[in-house]
Amino acid sequence: MITSPQMLPREMMLSRQEAPVETRILLVDDNPTNLKVLSDALRDQGWITLVATDGESAIEQVEYAPPSLILLDVMMPGIDGFETCRRLKADPKTAGLPIIFMTALSDTVDKVKGLELGAVDYITKPFQHEEVLARVRLHLNLFNMSRSLEQKVIEQAQTALELQQLAQSLEERVQARTHEVEQSLNDLKTAQLQLIQSEKMSVLGQLVAGVGHEINNPIGCIDGNIRHATSYVQDLFGLINLYQEVYPAPASKISDYIEEIDLEYLLEDLPKLLKSMKSSSSRIQEISLSLRSFSRSDDRAPSEVNIHEGLESTIMILKHRLKANELRPEIQIKMELGQLPMINAYSGPLNQVFMNIVANAIDAIDESYQHPSRNPEQVGIIAIETSVDRSNQEICLSIKDNGTGISEEIQGRIFEQSFTTKPIGQGTGLGLAISQQIIEEKHGGRLLCNSTIGSGTEFQIRLPI
Ligand SMILES: Nc1ncnc2c1ncn2[C@@H]1O[C@H](COP(=O)(O)OP(=O)(O)O)[C@@H](O)[C@H]1O
Ligand SMILES: [Mg+2]
Repeated sequence: MITSPQMLPREMMLSRQEAPVETRILLVDDNPTNLKVLSDALRDQGWITLVATDGESAIEQVEYAPPSLILLDVMMPGIDGFETCRRLKADPKTAGLPIIFMTALSDTVDKVKGLELGAVDYITKPFQHEEVLARVRLHLNLFNMSRSLEQKVIEQAQTALELQQLAQSLEERVQARTHEVEQSLNDLKTAQLQLIQSEKMSVLGQLVAGVGHEINNPIGCIDGNIRHATSYVQDLFGLINLYQEVYPAPASKISDYIEEIDLEYLLEDLPKLLKSMKSSSSRIQEISLSLRSFSRSDDRAPSEVNIHEGLESTIMILKHRLKANELRPEIQIKMELGQLPMINAYSGPLNQVFMNIVANAIDAIDESYQHPSRNPEQVGIIAIETSVDRSNQEICLSIKDNGTGISEEIQGRIFEQSFTTKPIGQGTGLGLAISQQIIEEKHGGRLLCNSTIGSGTEFQIRLPI
């Protein structure tokens, strides 16, 4: 009797995917009587029995519906029990199924061989009813126990894996949070420092505006009066000439006085003196204008800005720092200004940038004279160039010094908040960080640095037109 899967009773038709929820025992024997006896005995115990009458169909069935236990006859037509066992054990999918051989009582060789092939036990024919049931029960228990143990191990491994993943994701979250907190702390520091700097700038702006305004009126008065004084002096000179013409031989009291005051020199020098006073007063007027232009900074909204005006007033404010001192000659400013269009920008913050960069250039030149390699006669130069870069639609400002230069490793850090190489009290390390923010974030421009240690540094400010 061959039992193909199609012929199995409905409850035995379990698909391969389904887990063996009930206990199913596969009986393999070519003898229908044996099958019947065994099957009846096992079913009485509530177990489901599947049957096969030869080795090959047994293997087929096992693949189709894996049982919990196999009772396998040794002597069968086709492949015998041993070969069937060997093939089942060779396939990893079926290797774990417990197999009990059914063998003749006297056949010791078969028993040993069966156990060697991986069978868990043997039962002898003719069957002892109770013994068969006891052995089957024992091995089913063992099988179930090992199954559930396996399952537990798998579950535990799964749990361990999940725990590990959880720990990892927790660690990642902690790291991300730490990073966020650090970032906010940095942002806070930046904001604070910027507030301080912009506060200083606004105080400076107010001071400068105040000074500019205060000197404007008196200097306007001086300038206007010099004009009048010049014209009065001209009149007086005319009068003197007239006297000399009409009275070519004055009284000795007068001629003595003329000699005493060296009238000839006075007449020659006074116009020069007035001229120089005039030019100085014009200069002060320019300064006052520059001061007022520097501080005319409305940061709330961008407006049309003349870059050159900003640059010039910045230089004006820093002029006192350019003067010669005991270490070096006066620093020269070389301006090469191109034709720039007005741009829509924030003039106050831009002046702050110019101020930071030019002040750094002066610092770098000053510092270079501390080095023994620097020739004290050599002049410190700050070259300022402006041009329009049509291809990029940008205004380009270059501020170049022949100071210390910046080493490569430091170049990577100069825009960092609070990075300074200057002594405490002199450097804040904010100038470039703030300048970068003003140029790049506020104006959508670029702030670039080119430097060679020992020969100097160039900062380029590029602003979109
Ligand atoms: N023109 C320059 N030449 C050489 N080094 C410079 C120049 N400009 C900036 N640096 C370097 O960059 C650093 C940061 O500059 P900055 O942000 O303005 O801060 P601070 O001037 O307060 O140090 C300076 O300490 C200096 O080391
Ligand atoms: Mg600085």
